[in-house]
Amino acid sequence: MKLNENLKIVGSNVILVPYERKHVEKYHQWMKSEELQELTASEPLTLEEEYQMQQSWREDNDKCTFLILDKADFEQHGDEIRALVGDTNIFLQSETDDDDDNIRTGEIEIMIAEQLARGKRYGRESTLLMLLFGIKQLHITRYKAITKENNTKAIKMFESFGFRETKRVAVFKEVTFEKLVDEEWLAWIEREVSLKLESYHKR
Ligand SMILES: CC(C)(COP(=O)(O)OP(=O)(O)OC[C@H]1O[C@@H](n2cnc3c(N)ncnc32)[C@H](O)[C@@H]1OP(=O)(O)O)[C@@H](O)C(=O)NCCC(=O)NCCS
Repeated sequence: MKLNENLKIVGSNVILVPYERKHVEKYHQWMKSEELQELTASEPLTLEEEYQMQQSWREDNDKCTFLILDKADFEQHGDEIRALVGDTNIFLQSETDDDDDNIRTGEIEIMIAEQLARGKRYGRESTLLMLLFGIKQLHITRYKAITKENNTKAIKMFESFGFRETKRVAVFKEVTFEKLVDEEWLAWIEREVSLKLESYHKR
């Protein structure tokens, strides 16, 4: 979507930036990994298809994407491509899929693609920042997260955020978790992270 095309979110250890054409090549390299394809339920794309995907994610009003930078690396080297470690997305569910008119559902996705960047709480911070962004800027009132049933790390992370299992699809080996947004939860997220938005200048 265009809402975040000129915005970055500055966290303690990560910076979230909009997905630009210049990021596509590194993203494409990551997605050649069979492990990441499996964990994120993604099909391999050609580089050309990946460029089209980046463009369509920018245009589509129902998808918000940020790429994740290692903040310390970026501050040291000033090189966005070098500092890229993953991405996080929110898909807005269509209103007709929501059973209640007052509910606005977003599906959250997170990927720390760089192995060396995993286990440093970058995934946790990025996801919490994205959840907060979605509540504040996209007015989301219910989150969904879908993981493979053997993805212990992701399951533990979403459970630690208060998400609870609502559905299991055995054929796809997938589990759906959900969390309703309420005042108490929002206050908890805001104690964990603060949403610092800055202008993003394309270079
Ligand atoms: C799942 C993923 C996002 C976690 O990100 P990360 O940066 O490696 O993890 P973090 O260090 O931020 O840890 C976040 C939480 O994940 C869980 N976690 C992380 N590593 C774990 C491990 N080895 N064992 C069990 N739980 C673990 C914990 O709940 C942890 O929270 P805590 O630090 O409060 O205990 C990351 O490993 C990843 O992107 N994996 C590949 C793609 C993927 O699986 N995406 C999710 C699809 S829904």
